[in-house]
Amino acid sequence: MSILVTGGAGFIGSHACVELLDHGHDVVVADDFSNSFPRALDAVRRVTGRAVPAHAVDLRDAHGLDEVLGSHDISAVIHFAARKHVGESMSIPLEYYDVNIGGTISLLRAMAAHQVGRLVFSSSCSVYGDQYRRPITEDDPTAPVNPYARSKLICEQVIESACALTGLRALSLRYFNPAGAHPSGLLGESPRGAPSNVVPVLMKVAAGQLGKLTVFGADYDTPDGTAIRDYLHVMDVARAHRLALEHLEDAPGMRVLNLGTGTGLSVLELVRACEEACGADIPYVITDRRPGDVARLVADAGLARRAWGWHASHDVRSILRDAWRFEQMFPRGLGGSERDRGSE
Ligand code: WQD
Repeated sequence: MSILVTGGAGFIGSHACVELLDHGHDVVVADDFSNSFPRALDAVRRVTGRAVPAHAVDLRDAHGLDEVLGSHDISAVIHFAARKHVGESMSIPLEYYDVNIGGTISLLRAMAAHQVGRLVFSSSCSVYGDQYRRPITEDDPTAPVNPYARSKLICEQVIESACALTGLRALSLRYFNPAGAHPSGLLGESPRGAPSNVVPVLMKVAAGQLGKLTVFGADYDTPDGTAIRDYLHVMDVARAHRLALEHLEDAPGMRVLNLGTGTGLSVLELVRACEEACGADIPYVITDRRPGDVARLVADAGLARRAWGWHASHDVRSILRDAWRFEQMFPRGLGGSERDRGSE
């Protein structure tokens, strides 16, 4: 029996593959490689010593997806594949709804056709919107304020309907801000094109590939005026997905869990932490807010701790140190060549 990981060549998906393989699971990847590189799966093999069968497929391609599920004995699905940038979703909302919601509906149909009744879904803290100045629990009302976040909340509602209809058991993991890299430096956040998330952007500034960080807004209602987020090590996120697989049988229907550290950091605090971790100055310029952004998103991660014994075991220094190691080994990301360690 294998675990199908959609988006398994992506940032969180590839790290989740490492965690699953290292703990004896067999894994199959379905990825359209629109925002990832097949070399991420070579890196997974290098780190784990285990190969990963992969299929290049857009989840909205019902025939292609049917072929994937028909050619492996799939016991559960972890569904990462999605467009994931708040700012981008404001400019191409229909693409976000089509890919994220259309892809999820197509996946649910294929799972039902192949009697696959277990799903872990990659959701987002952005569903909570701009309401909270305190750590957020799973019972707090949602109020998404951008198409990316709305697409994630709608996917949760679609999955709930599928659970009621087919007896599917699902867990939706609402990530706060995953960042960092595998401690080996062989795997990390490597999007196609320019990075959009703040930590990979900071790595490019520290490496001198970008002249400065653009800080999107310093007029938020926060101590230093810049937005606060709950940065979480990608290996902690990966471990949570393995635990989620082990807890899918706990209850019928769909349950929601927040994945965060419970500690918030402003953009300027992150800049200072990055300067320390990378030993480099981080020049920045402050501009207007990014459309769709919110002031503060920090998790109350108590439920995952009580239910699974899961809590974040890495702090922001560890996140930045691991991200920096990956940046130095792969200055052009996984689409480029590995830096010859001998040249240092
Ligand atoms: C963080 C903060 C920006 C870039 C989203 C999803 C979340 C996760 C990560 C999937 C914000 C500021 C950013 C820059 C900046 N997705 N920023 N300059 O939007 O909080 O979270 O992506 O796993 O689920 O909600 O992440 O890293 O883009 O932004 O000032 O060049 O950094 O305004 O305050 P975000 P981010």
